[in-house]
Amino acid sequence: MGRPEYINIRTNHDIDKSETAFKNTTFSVLNEAYKLGVRYFDTAPSYGKGEAFLQEWNLKNNHNDVVLGTKWGYTYVANWQLDYAGKHEIKEHSLGKLLEQWEVSKHMLPNLKYYQVHSATFDSGILENQAVLAELHRIKETTGLHIGITTSGENQKEVISEALKIEVNGNLLFDSFQVSFNVFEQSTFEVLCTLIKSGKTVIIKEALANGRVFESENFPKYQAAYKVLKQLSEKHKVGADAIALRFVIDVLQPAYVLSGASNVQQLKANLKALDFNLSEEEINVLKSIQTKPEFYWNERSELAWN
Ligand SMILES: NC(=O)c1ccc[n+]([C@@H]2O[C@H](COP(=O)([O-])OP(=O)(O)OC[C@H]3O[C@@H](n4cnc5c(N)ncnc54)[C@H](OP(=O)(O)O)[C@@H]3O)[C@@H](O)[C@H]2O)c1
Repeated sequence: MGRPEYINIRTNHDIDKSETAFKNTTFSVLNEAYKLGVRYFDTAPSYGKGEAFLQEWNLKNNHNDVVLGTKWGYTYVANWQLDYAGKHEIKEHSLGKLLEQWEVSKHMLPNLKYYQVHSATFDSGILENQAVLAELHRIKETTGLHIGITTSGENQKEVISEALKIEVNGNLLFDSFQVSFNVFEQSTFEVLCTLIKSGKTVIIKEALANGRVFESENFPKYQAAYKVLKQLSEKHKVGADAIALRFVIDVLQPAYVLSGASNVQQLKANLKALDFNLSEEEINVLKSIQTKPEFYWNERSELAWN
């Protein structure tokens, strides 16, 4: 909601892409979400105006039960230019970037509760950068924040397993894990169960596979899966989004499942996930429509920013 261009699967892009229009939509989604019981709100510096919009909304409303999460490690560089040809965000897991972005994000305290490494990978060196790990530990000690990582890609479970072992001054550093898990990408199931059993906070992102759970002829590989989702949608009288979200809730019972709704209508449709349960048999059918992580993440990397 904080930047005009991202991975958008749907074909109708006939919306006002001005910053003012996005801000108005963001505030209406946040207000409606709060009204309907949503309490966790997730953002990042690389989501354009995401942090600024959330902070302004938070200050204005002053709800004492709102829980905010943000991240550090990517910088938004598209500067609201439409059809921006280059990379919209640049990754940098250095101590300098952490210090720079923390200076901005710390203004979200005291509602800020989760501070996450944005897309931890082996390549970025974050898991071995002692100066960065020590600074995260210092932030945790001085603010009481939960320090976390977010993961993406084929080797999410390896990154999570490695991050779980990291200690600073004899204390485990990471408390929360924001992970992609959905009907098509279930390769982290076991590691997520282990995390939840050991008391870590699990936050699921991309529960709708960025919108790929909605029937589309652009994804012929999912035709059989779309049939399953359609049958369940008709049975429970909700959309494929609610079925996919409910699957994540029932199969894992994570602390939070993120909704990537970009307007109030989508939000309301997503929240229908809270109105029914899936049977064990239905869960097993949904387990069977997963794809191989290699296929899933290759496809994900080819989705256009638009
Ligand atoms: N590395 C990371 O840490 C990372 C990466 C990705 C996401 N995240 C977090 O996870 C959140 C969710 O991720 P996401 O937005 O990528 O994933 P998502 O929930 O899998 O997909 C959301 C998209 O699905 C479409 N959608 C949702 N409900 C719909 C409905 N009822 N009808 C039609 N379309 C609908 C919308 O597409 P349109 O907007 O095109 O309509 C929406 O943007 C993000 O907001 C972010 O906070 C974190």
